[in-house]
Amino acid sequence: MLNQIKEHISEVEKFQANTAEAVEAFRIQYLGKKGVLNGLFSAFKDVPNDEKKEFGQTLNELKTKAQEKVEALKTALEEKEDQSGSGIDLTMSAEPMRMGSRHPLSIVKNEIVEIFARLGFTISEGPEIEDDWHNFSALNLPDEHPARDMQDTFFIQRDPDYLLRTHTSSVQVRFMEKNQAPIRTLSPGRVFRNEAISARAHCIFHQIEGLYVDENVSFADLKQTLLHFAQEFFGKETQIRLRPSYFPFTEPSAEVDISCNICKGKGCNICKYTGWVEILGCGMVDPNVLENCGIDAKKYTGFAFGMGVERITMLKYQIKDLRLFFENDVRFLDQFTSA
Ligand code: DAH
Repeated sequence: MLNQIKEHISEVEKFQANTAEAVEAFRIQYLGKKGVLNGLFSAFKDVPNDEKKEFGQTLNELKTKAQEKVEALKTALEEKEDQSGSGIDLTMSAEPMRMGSRHPLSIVKNEIVEIFARLGFTISEGPEIEDDWHNFSALNLPDEHPARDMQDTFFIQRDPDYLLRTHTSSVQVRFMEKNQAPIRTLSPGRVFRNEAISARAHCIFHQIEGLYVDENVSFADLKQTLLHFAQEFFGKETQIRLRPSYFPFTEPSAEVDISCNICKGKGCNICKYTGWVEILGCGMVDPNVLENCGIDAKKYTGFAFGMGVERITMLKYQIKDLRLFFENDVRFLDQFTSA
């Protein structure tokens, strides 16, 4: 009889089942009312007294093993069902995930940087909080210079003056102070002016400054570089026009227009029916500025230019209101992809 129980134990240990029905049949076979265990328990009374102890222990072992087996098989089946997705439709599409997109100002800035990188320009950056020297004095705007007023400066501290830079021309100064000619560098960055916010003006905007210093750099080099840029960025048919202008840090200075890329010169409200739109300011670096920054103005000449990223982006995508760039409305931002 004892051997019989031991055989049951090894059978129980070996038993496997893949369906709930098979597990249930196994449970009934061993643990059911008329099952193996109940049968053996009722035979207990006929077991001789000196064998009762071992018989009882072995029988209990069989019972525990059978119960554990049923539980283990049930859990395994449930887990399998969960994975295969009881009631879960694995073919259903996932929650839509919103993809971000690049800001139009970043797209345009990157394109401009790439065009000049192909001409050998490096990238340089400077601080947004600037001192008077780098933003003004070194650039030929000494104290009391009337052109300082045009820049609507946000001052952080007076005497010594600390301010939010009003243009990226300050980076020219920092770059020349640290590097000797030849220099070819492009400085993109944020600038700040105390202006009322409107469709055409903002107190924060972005500029890209260009600086080229070497022996024998001429105005012709400047003109050709800007024509190349305009045609790369706005299309091969683009023309440029230089108008004499004034900046304290360049002499001579010019403002540069491109032929209107929207009406192709026929006249539209973007170019105010002139066929031309302004894109940047430029000129030959004033020898005083070179000397202020420790560059020998007798040996070297250079050109510089500064453009507004918002302005170029508005022309490229025909955006009419500058404020859209700063509102971060995804319905606006989603519309731009880099070419
Ligand atoms: N700094 C000028 C501005 O903010 C733009 C500019 C004009 C930069 C002429 C230059 C330049 O480097 O040569 O309006």
